[in-house]
Amino acid sequence: MLLLPDLVVLATLALTVKADTPVCKAYGTKELSQFSKEGDINIGGNFSFHQKPVEVKPTLLVNPGSIQCEWLNPDELQYAQTMIFAIEEINNSSELLPEFSLGYRIFDSCPNIPLSVRASLALMNGHEEGLQRCSKTSTAHAVIGDTTSTSTIGIARTMGPFLIPVISHSATCACLSNRREYPSFFRTVPSDLYQNVALAKLVKHFGWTWVGAIRSNSDYGNNGMATFLEAAAREGVCVEYSVAIYRTDPRDWFLEVVDIIKRSTSKVIVAFAEGNDLEILFKELFWQNVTGLQWVGSEGWVTYRNLALPVHYAVAQGAVGFAVPNAVIPGLGKFLANSQPSTRPGDRGLVEFWETTFGCKMTPGSLGSSVQACTGRESLRETNSRYADVSDSSLLNNIYKAVYALGHALHQLTNCQSGQGPFENGTCADKKHIEPWQLLHYLQKVNFTTQNGERVSFDDQGDPPARYTLVNWQMDSTGSIVFQTIGHYDASQTEGQQFQMNENVSAVWAGNQTEVTTF
Ligand SMILES: *[C@@H]1O[C@H](CO)[C@@H](O)[C@H](O)[C@H]1NC(C)=O
Ligand SMILES: *[C@@H]1O[C@H](CO)[C@@H](O)[C@H](O)[C@H]1NC(C)=O
Ligand SMILES: *[C@@H]1O[C@H](CO)[C@@H](O)[C@H](O)[C@H]1NC(C)=O
Ligand SMILES: *[C@@H]1O[C@H](CO)[C@@H](O)[C@H](O)[C@H]1NC(C)=O
Ligand SMILES: *[C@@H]1O[C@H](CO)[C@@H](O)[C@H](O)[C@H]1NC(C)=O
Ligand SMILES: *[C@@H]1O[C@H](CO)[C@@H](O)[C@H](O)[C@H]1NC(C)=O
Ligand SMILES: *[C@@H]1O[C@H](CO)[C@@H](O)[C@H](O)[C@H]1NC(C)=O
Ligand SMILES: *[C@@H]1O[C@H](CO)[C@@H](O)[C@H](O)[C@H]1NC(C)=O
Repeated sequence: MLLLPDLVVLATLALTVKADTPVCKAYGTKELSQFSKEGDINIGGNFSFHQKPVEVKPTLLVNPGSIQCEWLNPDELQYAQTMIFAIEEINNSSELLPEFSLGYRIFDSCPNIPLSVRASLALMNGHEEGLQRCSKTSTAHAVIGDTTSTSTIGIARTMGPFLIPVISHSATCACLSNRREYPSFFRTVPSDLYQNVALAKLVKHFGWTWVGAIRSNSDYGNNGMATFLEAAAREGVCVEYSVAIYRTDPRDWFLEVVDIIKRSTSKVIVAFAEGNDLEILFKELFWQNVTGLQWVGSEGWVTYRNLALPVHYAVAQGAVGFAVPNAVIPGLGKFLANSQPSTRPGDRGLVEFWETTFGCKMTPGSLGSSVQACTGRESLRETNSRYADVSDSSLLNNIYKAVYALGHALHQLTNCQSGQGPFENGTCADKKHIEPWQLLHYLQKVNFTTQNGERVSFDDQGDPPARYTLVNWQMDSTGSIVFQTIGHYDASQTEGQQFQMNENVSAVWAGNQTEVTTF
């Protein structure tokens, strides 16, 4: 809130200087969107398409230009395309928002960039445009994103003072459930808080009251483990040891952890860790034949595909843990396989992916390029790309739900009866100039069922009801590791009703047992 008066002064100054012809000019470097299409109402998107900024040394003497990023992540492209798919579906629907066309503007929030700097520039620009009303389309009415908790925090901080709704599909940090710091934040993925409590209940449920604890030495692991330990104490679960690992730790430390595990008497290990940290530990445990322990895990590793290898299975056979429920989104797979890149500025999101997938250039003639031009007949259907694979749609479904939540909120807003509206003296929002806080009001109240049968609503903190599937590491007849769903957890049910085990699938436990062992 402190920022606001300064901005107003800045913008007013700009107005006085150019009193005759107010022209909008973005300060700093304008970031081009990755995907865009204008509608009556635009939804913004922020996804971490690239993993790493290309290093530049700013001299602070010249404008550094736009920030270049590398390491394109196809999963993030999938998130963006799912958002576009859902927007098109609503746009095509004659029931939801029939009078309005929806548009989108999707940006790359390449991580580790001085977010505060970039975000506050974007914010200033948005505000300036709004004040001068010289551009019909100022900032988006709401934003979907981001993928990691850290960049989501940056975006939620930026948008909060303007009450522009931000909905994340995958930021799980419990710290975001705070209406004072993040007044406009929502998410369609449950907060880690519920998972820690659920893990403690799971451990208790199976009668495992003497456990060891391993965590990643990161925000995710440390915060997660801290709440797990509290919840475990409440459930009467005792913790024999608690150690932290991190991928960059020396091998000696991993060997030390293996020794701690070998010396301990507990047979159950609760791991709140990221897949790439546990991978290292699993290898060491395998080499020393430390098998037959019952692993219990957080979603950070228990459904991490790269971890599902026979070597790791030897160590963590029968592991159980929580995962975001998978879903089927009819039509999405086809939509992804049919997507085509565009070379229009502001809509280049698929170009880089296309060029690397097919080894061609969309804009030939660049100096010294020996690479051939793309023919336009390339098709993703013949490739085996992760981008078109929708077998794990859990996060895609979270994006889908987020877009629909906005669709339903806007629908309610536009259907408001004059005199019976929720705002002062029963007024409604002006459909031609929807204010973000008005949309926020309706978003807080949505409660609907999606076409694929899921109820969507938010609590006072913007959190969805916490529902997880309980998965179990099993080996199928071909020798592949599968994450078998063996039950469900629903935090909104009463105590004792929260776990539902699937009666018709059998679980495998540590040591290839078919019955749960109470250690
Ligand atoms: C996030 O998206 C909004 C609108 O969609 C855009 O104005 C802003 O620059 C983006 N922020 C970042 C950090 O990429
Ligand atoms: C939405 O529908 C309008 C009218 O049918 C169309 O012109 C526009 O391209 C559509 N927008 C999107 C994002 O599909
Ligand atoms: C929306 O309608 C257009 C035109 O009929 C069609 O090409 C497009 O595939 C539809 N999009 C979705 C997501 O259903
Ligand atoms: C692990 O088990 C294998 C086969 O049983 C054995 O050959 C090997 O020596 C064991 N390794 C250790 C470190 O005990
Ligand atoms: C609401 O009604 C009161 C009394 O009629 C009036 O003073 C006030 O200005 C109205 N507020 C708005 C926003 O119309
Ligand atoms: C949403 O609606 C359903 C049925 O109409 C109701 O049972 C449920 O309590 C509602 N949820 C919230 C959060 O209001
Ligand atoms: C049991 O299996 C049937 C068919 O295989 C399935 O329809 C049903 O949902 C399953 N029940 C549970 C509780 O998973
Ligand atoms: C686990 O037990 C089943 C039979 O109960 C057996 O078919 C399978 O080979 C065993 N797997 C391992 C990895 O020991």
